[in-house]
Amino acid sequence: MHNNLVKKGIVLAGGCGSRLYPSTIAVSKQLLPVYDKPMIYYPISTLMLSGIKDILIITSPSDADNFKRLLGDGSRFGVKFSYAIQPSADGLAQAFIIGEEFINNEPVALILGDNIFYGQSFSKMLQEASLNVSTNSGATVFAYKVKNPQRFGVVQFDKNNRVKSIVEKPKVPKSDYAITGLYFYDENVCKYAKTLKPSKRGELEITDLNNIYLKKKKLDVKLFGRGFSWLDTGTFESLMQAGAYIKTIEDNQGIKIACLEEIAYNLGYLTKEEIEKNIVFANNDYYSYILNLIK
Ligand code: G1P
Repeated sequence: MHNNLVKKGIVLAGGCGSRLYPSTIAVSKQLLPVYDKPMIYYPISTLMLSGIKDILIITSPSDADNFKRLLGDGSRFGVKFSYAIQPSADGLAQAFIIGEEFINNEPVALILGDNIFYGQSFSKMLQEASLNVSTNSGATVFAYKVKNPQRFGVVQFDKNNRVKSIVEKPKVPKSDYAITGLYFYDENVCKYAKTLKPSKRGELEITDLNNIYLKKKKLDVKLFGRGFSWLDTGTFESLMQAGAYIKTIEDNQGIKIACLEEIAYNLGYLTKEEIEKNIVFANNDYYSYILNLIK
């Protein structure tokens, strides 16, 4: 892996998940299972595949202990987790105010704790985006064609197919391309985030932050093609579909998606012996997969 990649990443796992009530009254959405592992494993795997080992996990106050119980200091996965709290759901861009000390004027990636990405050459795309931001500065975000763009930040293109603006949850979307919840920013991100004002829905919008980079001609929007999967997990239906999708791929191929121990091993973060020493075994398929890996 290249030496110059973005080294720090944030998983934003705040919010109250009210669209999934009553399932999320007592437990954070990002701790719910997506088939055979907690939802947050998927975004963590994305950061790990980007080459990021230093990860800040931002949670709501009531869920912080549960995340710590699940993930610990990261040594089980050969990475380092630190934790911070978002007192209330005041917007995604607040991650750069809460995380300012962690970021320490360096480039940083942000991923939303409920975003699942899966597809061929994903690691390569991630590392290209990361390298681009750390060497050329600016921001890189990703767009994906969806059926319901009005639920997302939407890219508006000009006549020459260049990105003209990004509009948050437009009533009449100008394209079908949603901005996904994965963002790479240069070292200016905290400075810019501090200039944002709450939107009509009272949030510091990531879309406003992206538009700052766009105005400075420093925003790169990469498209994920139709062979790629970006899965939503925010409603009962989409959560169920995401679980079924993961199960289908895993069953067909005999692989595990977002098995953090396997990723750590493949990236050389942990030896087989270290994985074996740290693991808490259970009699199930997730653990027999790891056992098979380290035998
Ligand atoms: C947020 C962002 C939106 C983005 C989406 C991706 O929406 O505001 O721009 O497209 O995440 O998941 P929210 O989850 O706050 O509705």
